[in-house]
Amino acid sequence: MWFRFCLLLASATTAAADNDPVTGLARAEGVELVGAHCLVCHSSRLIVQNQLSREGWRQTIRHMQKNHNLWPLGEAEDLIVDYLVVNYGPLASSNRRRGNLPYLD
Ligand code: HEC
Repeated sequence: MWFRFCLLLASATTAAADNDPVTGLARAEGVELVGAHCLVCHSSRLIVQNQLSREGWRQTIRHMQKNHNLWPLGEAEDLIVDYLVVNYGPLASSNRRRGNLPYLD
């Protein structure tokens, strides 16, 4: 009985943490682009700690481009901004459960 209960708990927590174990980013459409363009210079922690609007993420990308030599993202930019605002936007915390940061696992 207890054993079954624990199994249930364990599977519930695994299912809720729908984050990529390596990058710590939420698994969703566009995550590969964010991995390819945004995690070259820094960890995903700088990204996941934010909850920015569409405009806020655009400005962050401009900031990366102006100050840190982030390359032009071309067509990927809109897809990256979509991913960021859906998963790390102002409304994201209510429908998303953050998994453990990678170094806590
Ligand atoms: C060429 C290197 C480089 C790339 C590529 C890069 N960044 Fe950064 N980013 C940095 C550096 C350096 C910092 C830390 C200094 C700072 O905050 O200005 C940083 C900081 C950040 C921060 C924290 C800012 C804050 O004040 O909290 C966010 C958010 C961020 N980056 C998002 C992104 C996103 C999104 C992408 C992909 C579109 C990206 N970065 C790609 C260099 C880069």
